[in-house]
Amino acid sequence: MQRLSQSPTEPAFVQNPYPFYARARAAGPLVVWQEYGLPVATTHHAINTILRDRRFGREPVTPPDIPAHLAPFYAVEAHSMLELEPPRHTRLRGLVLRAFTTRRIKALAPEIEQLARDLIDSFPDGPFDLLDAFCRPIPVIVIARLLGVPEGMAPDLLRWSNAMVMMYQAGRTPEDEARAVAATEEFVAFMRDYVRRRRSEPRDDLISALIAAEADGDKLTTDELITTCILLLNAGHEATVHTMGNGVKLALEMGVRPGTAPEAFVEEVLRLDPPLHLFTRWVYDEVNLFGHRFRRGDAVGLLLASAGRDADCYAQPDRFQPTRQGPPNLAFGAGLHFCVGAPLARLELGIAMSALFQACSGLRLVEAPRYAEIYHFHGLERLMVTR
Ligand code: HEM
Repeated sequence: MQRLSQSPTEPAFVQNPYPFYARARAAGPLVVWQEYGLPVATTHHAINTILRDRRFGREPVTPPDIPAHLAPFYAVEAHSMLELEPPRHTRLRGLVLRAFTTRRIKALAPEIEQLARDLIDSFPDGPFDLLDAFCRPIPVIVIARLLGVPEGMAPDLLRWSNAMVMMYQAGRTPEDEARAVAATEEFVAFMRDYVRRRRSEPRDDLISALIAAEADGDKLTTDELITTCILLLNAGHEATVHTMGNGVKLALEMGVRPGTAPEAFVEEVLRLDPPLHLFTRWVYDEVNLFGHRFRRGDAVGLLLASAGRDADCYAQPDRFQPTRQGPPNLAFGAGLHFCVGAPLARLELGIAMSALFQACSGLRLVEAPRYAEIYHFHGLERLMVTR
C-alpha cells in the first residue's frame, strides 16, 4: 500500500481537496494517509464495498479511554445509533424509522416551499450572505418543526450543534472541547425537560412519535430519546446547509440551473462537492481486501468525496453535469448506517434550490466563494450574492 502525505489543515487542501483524492486514487484503492496514520479507501468500488461489509463497523473494538472532562459529550454519543452496531443499532434505527416515515417527510413539502419563499421575500437589495439568509435557516427550522421543538429555539440549536460538531475536527483545541461539553450539557438539559413535558402532552410531531414508538414492547429510554433528538437535530441540518451552499455556488459558477425537476441537479451536487468527506470504520475480523490484510481492531478511512470523482464510474468526473449516468453517489453513505435523513435532505435541497432560482433569475456572485477552513465539513464560509 502506498503512503501519501497531506496535512488536513493546509489551507490550499481545505479549499480544494480533490487533487489529493485524484493522487490517492491513482496510488490504489487503499492508500495510507500518513497524517491520520490510517489506510483510506479511495475508489467508489472500495468505499462502497467496505460500507456494505459487516466485518467493518462504527463501534470500536476496544472502548476508548474517555478523559473525565469529555464525559458529558460521550455520555450522549453512547446512545447514538451512528456510533453503534447491531443489536443496539437495529433497535434504535428501527424505532426512529417507524416515526420518520415517508409520509411524514413528504407532507413537509408545502411548508418547505413556503419557508423558502418567505426567506426569499426578505432578501435585501444589496449584496448579502446567502448562507445566513437562506441556506442556514431552512434545514434547522424544518428539523425543529419536524421534531416539534419550538422554532424560537433555532438559534440555540445552531449554537449547540456548531459547538458539538467541533469535536470531530482535525486539531481541535482544549477551548473547542470545553465549548462542546458546555453545549452538550445545555442541549441535554433542554431536551430532558422538553421530553418530560411532551410525555404527558403528546402532539403530532416526531418527539411524540418517538415516545410512542414501540418495537416488541421495547421503548426508547429517556437517555436514548434525548440522544436521538440531538443526533437528528445535529445531523439534520449542518450537512444540508453546506450541500445547499455548494449547490448554489456550482449553479452560479457553471450557469446550470436546477429547474422544476431538481432531483438530478441535487444528486450531481452530492456527487461533485458533498459536505462530508471522511468517515472511519473499525475492523471486527481478519479481512483480506484490495491486497491488504486488515486485522481485528484496525481502523480504515473512507473518502466519500473521492468516490464521486472516480473516472471508472463517471465520465469526465470533474465536470458538473446533472444529466449524467452512473452509480448512486456515496454522499449519504451506504449499508447499515445509510443516512436516515437522506429523503428529507433531498426534498429540502430540491425545493429550496428550485424556489431560489425561480424567484431570483438574476442571482449572481459578488465575490469568489471560499470554503471554511475546516476539513470535517466541506462547506462555504459565506456566499455573497446579489439578486
Ligand atoms: C445533504 C445532507 C446530508 C448528508 C450529506 C448526510 C450524510 C450522512 C452520512 C454519510 C451518513 C453515514 C455515516 C457513516 O456511514 O459513517 C449519515 C448518517 C446519518 N444521518 Fe445524514 N446526511 C445528511 C442529512 C441528514 C438529515 C437531514 C438527517 C436527519 C433529519 C440526517 C440524519 C442522519 C442519521 C440519524 C444518521 C445515522 C444513521 C445510522 O447510523 O444508521 N442526515 N448521514
